[in-house]
Amino acid sequence: MTVTINGRLLEVVAGTVVSAAMLQAGEPCRISVSGEPRTAMCGMGICFECRAVVNGVAHRRTCQFVCADGLRVETMR
Ligand code: FES
Repeated sequence: MTVTINGRLLEVVAGTVVSAAMLQAGEPCRISVSGEPRTAMCGMGICFECRAVVNGVAHRRTCQFVCADGLRVETMR
């Protein structure tokens, strides 16, 4: 299936969580208030480090969100 990450198309296998797709794309999930790129840390929905904009909705925990064909994800700033 294909997802769009920061405007770029990416092929992922079924069952891939969004945080893994963002790692595969080399994109951070979010940019911290001090400007640091952040990505998934706990991978189980606790730390909130993996927040990103998924289909226009901000603060989605991407480690808890499985990719669907046509999904759009943007790094949260
Ligand atoms: S990686 Fe910790 S909540 Fe997603």
